[in-house]
Amino acid sequence: MRILKKYALKAGYRNFKKMLTPVDRDYDPHEWKKHHFGLSDVRWERLKGKCIWVTGAGTGYGQCIAVALAAAGSLVILSGRRKEKLVETTEVMKSYGIENDNCEIIDFDLKDFREIEEACRAVKGLTQNLYGIVNNAALPQGGDSPYPLQAGTYEMWDNIIKTNLTAPWYLTKIMAPHMIKGKEIRVIFMTSEAGWAFTPGFGMYNVSKAALNNLAASFAAEVSESNPDADIQMNILVPGEAKTEMNQGSADSPYAVVGMSLILLSHPGGGPNGKFFHRDGRHLQFAYAAIHDKELI
Ligand SMILES: NC(=O)c1ccc[n+]([C@@H]2O[C@H](COP(=O)([O-])OP(=O)(O)OC[C@H]3O[C@@H](n4cnc5c(N)ncnc54)[C@H](OP(=O)(O)O)[C@@H]3O)[C@@H](O)[C@H]2O)c1
Repeated sequence: MRILKKYALKAGYRNFKKMLTPVDRDYDPHEWKKHHFGLSDVRWERLKGKCIWVTGAGTGYGQCIAVALAAAGSLVILSGRRKEKLVETTEVMKSYGIENDNCEIIDFDLKDFREIEEACRAVKGLTQNLYGIVNNAALPQGGDSPYPLQAGTYEMWDNIIKTNLTAPWYLTKIMAPHMIKGKEIRVIFMTSEAGWAFTPGFGMYNVSKAALNNLAASFAAEVSESNPDADIQMNILVPGEAKTEMNQGSADSPYAVVGMSLILLSHPGGGPNGKFFHRDGRHLQFAYAAIHDKELI
């Protein structure tokens, strides 16, 4: 416990007590009807019929979140570059007995702003108002240098910043007015511990996630101030480690992120906005953003 507390304080996590809420169980997706990924019946019902866009939905965390949302009866928009991976996600749903008729696939490259614009036009055509976005897609550091900020190429920097930072901003910016029509907005920006870190070897990725943290909190403040009558909840989630395409070194299941993602997406009015959370239930601090000081469930 002492070690955990020391780590928490070092990492700037001020509300240590809230670190201990166990919401990151990797529920067996086959058993979704029994556990609803830990969500109460009321919260589970809130997700029914809501249209939610998950980027990077063909693999890893994105796939798990898309599967759980489809199980809850949401209309899920799945995007990523590889269509076959997105189709695979809908097949995974089917294999768990989850209806996938309400899923739409849009394969495009987030690095290209024209493709983002086209995808947003397609989403506007699919739904009267989009309720949620999970900005989950990202690129890892890549390259084989231990010092990418010194040895990396311009192209490497550009790809990471475009995918991890520019794309979540541009996509959310385009969709926000459409979402506001529904008076309720739920957006998750999937960040990383890297956004708090200065680890050699991951410089560009660290920068992209630290900037994403600021983008998300600044964006949340802007959107809520300019739309005082709407219920805006745009928050930041640290998903922690799990075995996915970008992280082959972890033994954790990516389903461990589902509980906290659904809690944020299903939160009723008056919930957090511009706040930082960890998949294990911790309420985090980032720069001047104070922790969310109320319970989420
Ligand atoms: N796994 C971990 O341990 C860990 C830890 C901390 C944070 N995270 C964060 O969790 C999120 C999900 O990552 P993951 O671990 O699930 O990794 P992943 O399996 O590699 O997922 C990344 C997804 O992003 C999509 N993507 C990448 N570039 C894209 C582009 N240009 N256009 C459209 N889609 C693109 C990929 O699909 P295509 O290649 O088909 O486009 C892929 O489905 C990321 O934000 C990551 O930074 C993960």
